[in-house]
Amino acid sequence: MNKSVSILGFAGSLRKGSFNKSLLRAASEMLPRDATLEIFDLEGIPPFNQDLERQPPEKVNDFKSKIRAVDAILIATPEYNYSIPGVLKNAIDWASRPYGDCALEGKPVAIMSASGGLLGGARAQYHLRQTFVFLNMCPLNKPEVIVTFANEKIDPNGNVTDQKTREKIRELLESLVAWTVKLRR
Ligand SMILES: Cc1cc2nc3c(=O)[nH]c(=O)nc-3n(C[C@H](O)[C@H](O)[C@H](O)COP(=O)(O)O)c2cc1C
Repeated sequence: MNKSVSILGFAGSLRKGSFNKSLLRAASEMLPRDATLEIFDLEGIPPFNQDLERQPPEKVNDFKSKIRAVDAILIATPEYNYSIPGVLKNAIDWASRPYGDCALEGKPVAIMSASGGLLGGARAQYHLRQTFVFLNMCPLNKPEVIVTFANEKIDPNGNVTDQKTREKIRELLESLVAWTVKLRR
């Protein structure tokens, strides 16, 4: 059986200096041997309009094709107002439509979150998991990568400098790869 696992990662933040984009970049530096990670920027995905779901914008077509082409998904998201950012929900809504053509259905998925505060985006992670239920995705349960006080763990150049955080990301990737291979059987 082919043991290589391809992963598509995206962040729920468009901010250039996004801590969550930093988590994805750190992930790309510590991939398990047989895994690949492509990072997709959600910038440019317009607000969802159901009138267009059968002729979506090019960026959405690209997003859906990339999701379909990979074995697993990795999402790094901030928490906005105790939930996931509209940018992320909007992208998921596009990828889920039209009815019967959901690109995310059945995909293994792992989550990371970072925020400057005490809870590190934990509440957003649990909201996101609720969405995965309807999408019939296969979320990895553990480890939970919840990066609190992100400004102390990610330097001004966007490098994840905290060794424990790096170790957790490495563990998450290894678990996502093992989970994806297990689901193939
Ligand atoms: C609209 C908005 C709402 C926010 N709400 C929360 C929140 O509910 N909980 C939290 O921990 N941080 C909250 N924050 C702070 C973000 O988590 C913080 O800005 C984080 O760094 C954003 O992620 P990024 O660095 O990847 O852009 C909020 C930020 C914004 C802009």
